[in-house]
Amino acid sequence: MNKHFKSLAVLSLLAFSMSAAAQLTSEISLDVTKEGNIIPKEIYGQFSEHLGQCIYGGLWVGENSQIPNEQGYRKDVLQALKELHVPVLRWPGGCFADEYHWMDGIGPREKRPTMVNNNWGGTVEDNSFGTHEFLNLCEMLGCEPYISGNVGSGTVEELAKWVEYMTSDGNSPMANLRRENGRDKPWKVKFLGVGNESWGCGGNMRPEYYSDLYRRYSTYCREYDGNKLYKVASGASDYDYNWTKVCMKAIGNKMNAISLHYYSVINGWDMKGSATDFTTAEYLRTLSKCREVEEVLQKHIAIMDELDPKNRVDLLLDEWGTWWDVEEGTNPGWLFQQNTMRDALVASLSFDIFHKYTRRLKMANIAQIVNVLQSMILTDQEGTGHMVLTPTYHVFRMYSVHQDATYLPLELKCDIVDTEGDRKLPLVSATASKKDGQVHLSVTNASPDKTETITVNVNGLNVKSAEGEILQGKEMGSYNSFQKPEEVKPAVFTGAKVKKGVLTLTIPAHSIVTVTLK
Ligand code: AHR
Repeated sequence: MNKHFKSLAVLSLLAFSMSAAAQLTSEISLDVTKEGNIIPKEIYGQFSEHLGQCIYGGLWVGENSQIPNEQGYRKDVLQALKELHVPVLRWPGGCFADEYHWMDGIGPREKRPTMVNNNWGGTVEDNSFGTHEFLNLCEMLGCEPYISGNVGSGTVEELAKWVEYMTSDGNSPMANLRRENGRDKPWKVKFLGVGNESWGCGGNMRPEYYSDLYRRYSTYCREYDGNKLYKVASGASDYDYNWTKVCMKAIGNKMNAISLHYYSVINGWDMKGSATDFTTAEYLRTLSKCREVEEVLQKHIAIMDELDPKNRVDLLLDEWGTWWDVEEGTNPGWLFQQNTMRDALVASLSFDIFHKYTRRLKMANIAQIVNVLQSMILTDQEGTGHMVLTPTYHVFRMYSVHQDATYLPLELKCDIVDTEGDRKLPLVSATASKKDGQVHLSVTNASPDKTETITVNVNGLNVKSAEGEILQGKEMGSYNSFQKPEEVKPAVFTGAKVKKGVLTLTIPAHSIVTVTLK
């Protein structure tokens, strides 16, 4: 029987048959001569908010810290992030952005006023990390800054002056103030968010009202001395298609992009569930909820296509990822969660989807870079100076080969399971791209307990070898802790075989592979 039909036929029986089958088989067809869009590197973007220990203790410890630092930035974190080739970093929020007053975060640190971080645990924010500290960090990482402006509680003048402060090279009041604060040349700032979640923490607005505010605020965000701004309207959450529709109609191409937020929350916002202690059913539900982003993207894009047939306005998924209960004993407002192989699979499955929609989807920023939600890195909350790389970090590094590469569409035939909530989950996910003459293929086996043997038919390349890495945990709930920092780490992949020109990949349950085809 044709494998595709097999998939459909066995759908409801699979839950029973899976336990009997020793392993699963599937098939990928890849034609390397059929090229798609370039995958913008910004799909691998990051997000850093003044929230818990993302900034303080995560990225920044200050020059006087015992923790090894370079001008106040943690050396170990910097080094690890450099290996990810972070293309863009969003800051200062999130919800924090709409209560942030940038002038409090410039000038001598000891003179900066404090404020209460009302969104995130009522922590007192001392503003020691501000505009200079953020933009200098972006320079050190070699990434584009993405500034989120305050529309909820700030003024038009305040945002206009911030843009002038950061980007003007002339003899202007804000450029001179920046010079007084030690920075002569302006920074280049391209991405500018006009508000965040304006339907919620960013002001509880209706889309009609927000659209008018967007038009007003963005008018005064000027382009100084050759700095080109790319203005982003605060977009919808998940399934709020009306928000996108109203903003597209009312703002049109006065914006360069509109954003979207999508979190893989499975049990509802009050009882999100443990990051590490979960059932197989919850594992499958998480993966199918994460895959639902495809339908959400399709529906927002369909609205944009109808109202902007010339494809002038981009879509940015500037917050995405998992959201679990906080780790026991940590501040509930700080959103500090562990990160397992399940999270790693959310990352790989998400990228496989994002790559397909880059005609419109030009950026995605995982929430968040360090110590918050689905982070790349966890630092010890006690401040002992320890750091661990999460399984999600490893996916970002393994997938970095796809940044700015040419997308190669592929066909996939595999078994599909039913998960709770009536969603379907294909047990294999894959994506491919080509860059500098090399073809990279990433494949995830999402099965909770079965090895997959995948036949890869490649047209346009006589495959002789497939070499690369595998990210695998003993359990789907395996994670890295400060006690066992290397429980999950990539290893050389030995499951590739080429026989009579046919490539097969044997991939264990809940693991992720990236190979170079030669
Ligand atoms: O990422 C955490 C929060 O989630 C952000 O501050 C907000 O924009 C979203 O609701």
